[in-house]
Amino acid sequence: MIPFGLTSSGEPAQLFVLQDRDGAEIALTDYGATLVRWRAPDRRGQLDDVVLGFNRVEAYAAHTAYFGAIVGRYGNRIAHGRFTLDGRTHELATNNAPAGIPCHLHGGRAGFDRKIWASEFRPHPTQPAVTFRLRSPDGDEGYPGNLDVTVTYTLVGAGELQIDYLARSDRATPVNLTNHVYFNLAGEQTESILGHLVTLQASTYLPVDAGMIPTGEVAPVGNTPFDFRAPCRIGERIEHPNEQLRLAAGYDHNFILDPRTDPLAPAGLVFEPQSGRLLEFRTTEPGVQFYTGNFINGSEVGKSGHAYGRRSGFCLETQHFPDSPNQPSFPSTILRPGQTWTSRTVYRLSTR
Ligand code: BGC
Repeated sequence: MIPFGLTSSGEPAQLFVLQDRDGAEIALTDYGATLVRWRAPDRRGQLDDVVLGFNRVEAYAAHTAYFGAIVGRYGNRIAHGRFTLDGRTHELATNNAPAGIPCHLHGGRAGFDRKIWASEFRPHPTQPAVTFRLRSPDGDEGYPGNLDVTVTYTLVGAGELQIDYLARSDRATPVNLTNHVYFNLAGEQTESILGHLVTLQASTYLPVDAGMIPTGEVAPVGNTPFDFRAPCRIGERIEHPNEQLRLAAGYDHNFILDPRTDPLAPAGLVFEPQSGRLLEFRTTEPGVQFYTGNFINGSEVGKSGHAYGRRSGFCLETQHFPDSPNQPSFPSTILRPGQTWTSRTVYRLSTR
């Protein structure tokens, strides 16, 4: 456990470092249960940090891009910051406004990414882990019910980071938890992610309106720049004159993962040709928000003193669909008392 600075309210944050036998190392902080560092070998064995982030908690508190954090209670957007559940309308913070249209994003003004979580470090020779726990009280950011959340990060070996989520509530509430890590497989100091090759096992995606809220349509990816069923460079089609790419200033959409008999079968791959690093992800979630860092603008100076520019990192945020509480045709995100909400995502780094 290493001191990681003080939050704006003077709370101390800690850093936990986990190592596996293959030389990979990850670091996590209890502020936002955030993944701070992931050092992994390239094809020549050189270690680089492949996730965007900062060296001290003060920088995390000052930034707004959710680098590496757990986002919640509801990751992604809820239209107008409002939803009706069991006949009652709930008002949430509207902390985001694409095209001037206000919505709720990633849990609100002080979402789970801005809290100090209780932590438990579990050193282990082959599977070291850190468990983070948070109570989100009834009324937190407008959400109903006391929600208890547990997130465990385990370095399971062979380059795999497993993230397990669990939540329980004493009143019905929407829940959609994810990790908002930005990867750059060439190393976090590298300018752009446009040369990475992406494969996603997704035949459909969710188009959005001007406010970046899904229209409700489930659109086939075929013959569009959203078809990643075969590997394609991120930069290949990102500037195509496509209405959806224009609305989101690039890729920032929820892809519906094709049904898998094994829910933890690979759902996607990203390959970076210079380093040879390969990222694979698996998840029990039905969707993934593929976001190409379109709104990062160089104002955030990262851990190696390098400013993070537009599209210098990409996210694969495994999750339920945006705005589900207002979209009856989407899989439900409502957690009820007595139920346990669970979710697992695995990211695996290797080389080729
Ligand atoms: C969203 C983006 C948003 C970003 C904030 C992503 O998950 O999809 O629209 O700007 O988070 O960092």
